[in-house]
Amino acid sequence: MKILLLGSGGRESALAWKIKQSPLTDSLFIAPGNGGTDSYGTNVAIKPTDFEAIDKFVTDNAIDMIVVGNEDPLVAGIYDYFESKPVLVVGPSKAGAALEGSKDFAKDFMTRHNIPTARYRSFTADTIEQGYAFLETLTPPYVLKADGLAAGKGVLIIDSLDEAREALKEMLGGMFGNASATVVIEEFLSGIECSVFVLTDGNGGYRVLPVAKDYKRIGEGDTGLNTGGMGAVSPVPFADEAFMAKVTESIIEPTVKGLLADGITYRGFIFLGLINVGGEPMVIEYNVRMGDPETEAVMLRVDSDLVELMQAAAKGNLGTLELRQDPRTAVTVMMVSGGYPGSYPKGKVITGTEAVNPDTTILFHAGTARDAEGRLVTSGGRVIAASSYGTDIADALARSFEAVSRVDFDGKYFRRDIGKDLMKH
Ligand code: AMP
Ligand code: GLY
Repeated sequence: MKILLLGSGGRESALAWKIKQSPLTDSLFIAPGNGGTDSYGTNVAIKPTDFEAIDKFVTDNAIDMIVVGNEDPLVAGIYDYFESKPVLVVGPSKAGAALEGSKDFAKDFMTRHNIPTARYRSFTADTIEQGYAFLETLTPPYVLKADGLAAGKGVLIIDSLDEAREALKEMLGGMFGNASATVVIEEFLSGIECSVFVLTDGNGGYRVLPVAKDYKRIGEGDTGLNTGGMGAVSPVPFADEAFMAKVTESIIEPTVKGLLADGITYRGFIFLGLINVGGEPMVIEYNVRMGDPETEAVMLRVDSDLVELMQAAAKGNLGTLELRQDPRTAVTVMMVSGGYPGSYPKGKVITGTEAVNPDTTILFHAGTARDAEGRLVTSGGRVIAASSYGTDIADALARSFEAVSRVDFDGKYFRRDIGKDLMKH
């Protein structure tokens, strides 16, 4: 089949790598892709939210299936746009994408279907006084979330009540534009997080992908500013059989059944951001796509034909298809530009990628591009992910570090403690 993958990050590099391996794939296009995705297919200069341009490309090239990497096109309704056209879309309808596009909707969904999550209430400018009163009922730290998409920056965790009140006022006053016109305030949950990915066919069928943990902060020991993700590990030792049985029973099943019961079409990936609170899984957030950089670790451990699975899910029937997991461990270490997540230079020449051992490590490009002379250069904050197989976390980590030591660009930075918290478990 002919496949069009939307997105340009490390996640899309990993999806492209996996899609290319399928015997079902005749050709793969990535829109817009990056400086590395062109080794798995053909990059096309189309924005993932430009549905008309995508439509024309799909028609002109007889595309059979669109795989949506990032949330923006999903929240904007790409599934619905193509629903009556002769192309499959892997992803939720616009109504389903609201699980990520609106935190208020997601919390309401969880409450309605009895899915464990932090106690919460939502407020607007009209109900700010009730918001202040609700804050008084909580114990610090206070968690305030912009309802809408805010490029991963819409969650504030604040220690003092006065500052929380001030933040509520600022958020409702437009701190994140329209995204914070509604603010969700919720109880703080304490525990260790993990990411569970589910592929569902919208008819009650689903498969669980390998579980991963990501590392969001820029600094070692989870310090400093939030980033798009500095690394990932799969599997996650604490997400053992007993924990996953609880996740399945109290979260995955009610989510899949809840979508069906609410009449919400969802044929794609559900990302459950979970927290382990004393052995009990609770939902921190839903996303409606795969995670980045989790996908760069998870794809190494998917031992089945992902294209066959995605096609079946998009057609609405996963049937008896299996999703087998590779028993090895995968660790991803992200190399980022100096200065990230603040401002950073672009256009730095990247060397050494050819010196990495492809048998143990895969380099997934994120913020890379080709310059006028065809040289590989940096073009973003997160530049390249080194994902390695290993017998355990320490082994895979050592291989990724070996790869990271070979790749170089001016200002290169990475975290040396990816997975170390899990090694203690
Ligand atoms: P979100 O965008 O909802 O994933 O929130 C970003 C991050 O904030 C999460 O990955 C958590 O680390 C943290 N967070 C969000 N909600 C809570 C909560 N209720 N309790 C503790 N931490 C939270
Ligand atoms: N790694 C978290 C995310 O993709 O949102």
